[in-house]
This record gives sequence, structure tokens and C-alpha cells, in this order.
Amino acid sequence: MNDLISDSTLLVIALVTLLQFVNGRRRREDPAGKESHYPLPSHLQSTTVDVALKLENVKKVFDSRSASAKKMVVALDGVSFEVKRGEFVSIVGPSGSGKSTLLNVIGALDRPTSGKVFINGQDIFLLDDARLSDVRSRLIGFIFQSYNLVNRMSVQENVEFPAIFSERPSSDSRTRALELLETLGIKDKAKQKPVDLSGGEQQRVAIARALINDPALVLADEPTGNLDTKTGREVFNLLKMLSDRFGTTVVMVTHNLELAGMTTRSIYIRDGRIEKEILHKDLSETKASSAAASKDITSSSSEKAR
Ligand SMILES: Nc1ncnc2c1ncn2[C@@H]1O[C@H](COP(=O)(O)OP(=O)(O)OP(=O)(O)O)[C@@H](O)[C@H]1O
Ligand SMILES: [Mg+2]
Repeated sequence: MNDLISDSTLLVIALVTLLQFVNGRRRREDPAGKESHYPLPSHLQSTTVDVALKLENVKKVFDSRSASAKKMVVALDGVSFEVKRGEFVSIVGPSGSGKSTLLNVIGALDRPTSGKVFINGQDIFLLDDARLSDVRSRLIGFIFQSYNLVNRMSVQENVEFPAIFSERPSSDSRTRALELLETLGIKDKAKQKPVDLSGGEQQRVAIARALINDPALVLADEPTGNLDTKTGREVFNLLKMLSDRFGTTVVMVTHNLELAGMTTRSIYIRDGRIEKEILHKDLSETKASSAAASKDITSSSSEKAR
């Protein structure tokens, strides 16, 4: 119980310091509304004002994993939707409905069989491999349920890893990685291997790694799925704050309908198709209420600190 309380308190403090950290580092706004310390090459700059992500009739067909079945699996069957800049969208649906496949295609980890994915107005699958890998590393931060950390590397090396593909000097990445770990309350684990950390700590390492390149779009595949309710809620609050306060677009797959209800919109997927969409909050309403909420969090955490 004590562990839970201290973990939760630590995360509230981390949340507040993360806000200060991101705010403090903001140096300029690019047309995408995304803060960046290193100028983006032209193919990564936004050509749209307020649409961060757009899918047009995306299909994904896999060969069946089972050689004996010899049939095709239609994982995505014509998915189309748009996500506005700064929106926090949840993707909900039964197991096997195509949620991870959808996220992998949006994150350019997998190519669609047909259809288009636009990020910042750019049809990403028209880009050559080098530019597509730029999109992956500079515009997108990916958070997986199973954390996907490399156990041979230290926590700090895991966080720094995606920065290798940016123009950031390695000394700067080192500093930023340590700052992120500090704000997430796990700087003391920087030299340890991920395998020695708790699930909540590993997920925070994965969040730090996803944020190292200041992504405009964060994709999270069941980021709270392996965490206890309280730690899961705090991890969720970190993602929500990124979207509410800093205009980061977040797309999160979740089975947790309570958390989904706190995002701006839920897209329900079934059998690779959009079944329905539920709007929970108007985006402008979210921005207004988040300013008040972050004030509350700041005052309650300073009360706790006293
Ligand atoms: N690499 C692959 N090869 C063959 N079939 C695949 C592959 N990846 C996914 N599938 C199939 O595509 C369908 C959608 O899978 P996906 O992993 O996207 O579902 P999901 O909604 O994320 O499920 P869960 O909630 O269990 O994570 C499933 O039938 C799955 O077996
Ligand atoms: Mg999945």
C-alpha cells in the first residue's frame, strides 16, 4: 500500500515537473505547432493547419500465420479517419479487431496493403525509406504495452537510442535523457538495466524514450495494460497532459473504457472496420479545462510537498 502511495505521489510530482520541463525547453513553434530545437527538414514540416493525421481507406491483409490455414487475414478493412492536432484519441475494440495493426501502420512500422496515411499532410508511404525513417524517428513517439526496452542497454541508453537518428549532438541527447528520467522520477535508475525495474518504472522509461525527439504524434499501444490501476491512471495523465498542454497529438489503444472516456474521442474498431466513434469532449473545451486541472494538480502537489 505504502509503495502504491509513494509511487502515485512520485508520478504527480513527475507530471508537474514534466510540464515545467517541456515548457522550459520550448524555443520555437513550427507551423505544425510542434516545438522543436532542431529545424525539421522540409518533408517533415506540416502542410496542414490543424489535421495531424489522416487515414484514407487503409487496408492491411496478412498471410495467415498458420501455414496449414493457407488463408489471408484481413486485419484492416478500409479504415478512414482524421485526427486534429492536439487531439487525444482512443482506439477501442475486441482482441484481434486490428488495433495494433492500425497503430503500426500509422507509426510506419508496417506498410498498408492499400490506402493512404497522411501525417502533417504528407502521404508518408510515398516517401523513400530514408525519409520514412525520418518521419518515424522525428515526428512519432511509440509506446508499447510490453515496453520493448532493450535489456542489454542501460535505462539511459534506451532513452537516448532514438536520438541517434536525429541531428541532436550526443551530449545534448544525454542531458535530455537524464532530464526526462528525472522528471519522470526515475533518474536514479539511469544506469540500471530495464529488467531490474518494476512494470510502472519500465513504462516510464518507455515514455521518456518516446519523448526524446519531441514527437508531434505519440502512439501508445495499451500503455497502461500491464500496470496497476493507480499507476496506469498516472501514466494516462502524463499522456493527457502532453496533448492538453503542449499540442502533442496522442493516439492510444486501450481496453480500459474509463480511460477511453477521458480522451477527446474514441474510435471503436471491430473486424478491421470502424464500428462507431464517440466524441467525449470538444477539443477547445479540453484545452480550457486542462488549464484549470493543471493548476489544481500544481497546488495539490505543492500541498503534498509541504
Ligand atoms: N504479422 C501478422 N501475420 C498474420 N496475421 C496477423 C499479423 N499481425 C496481426 N495479425 C492478425 O490480424 C488481426 C488483427 O490483429 P491485431 O494484433 O491488430 O489485433 P488487436 O486488436 O491489437 O488485438 P489485441 O487487443 O489482442 O492486442 C488478428 O486476426 C491477428 O491474428
Ligand atoms: Mg494489440
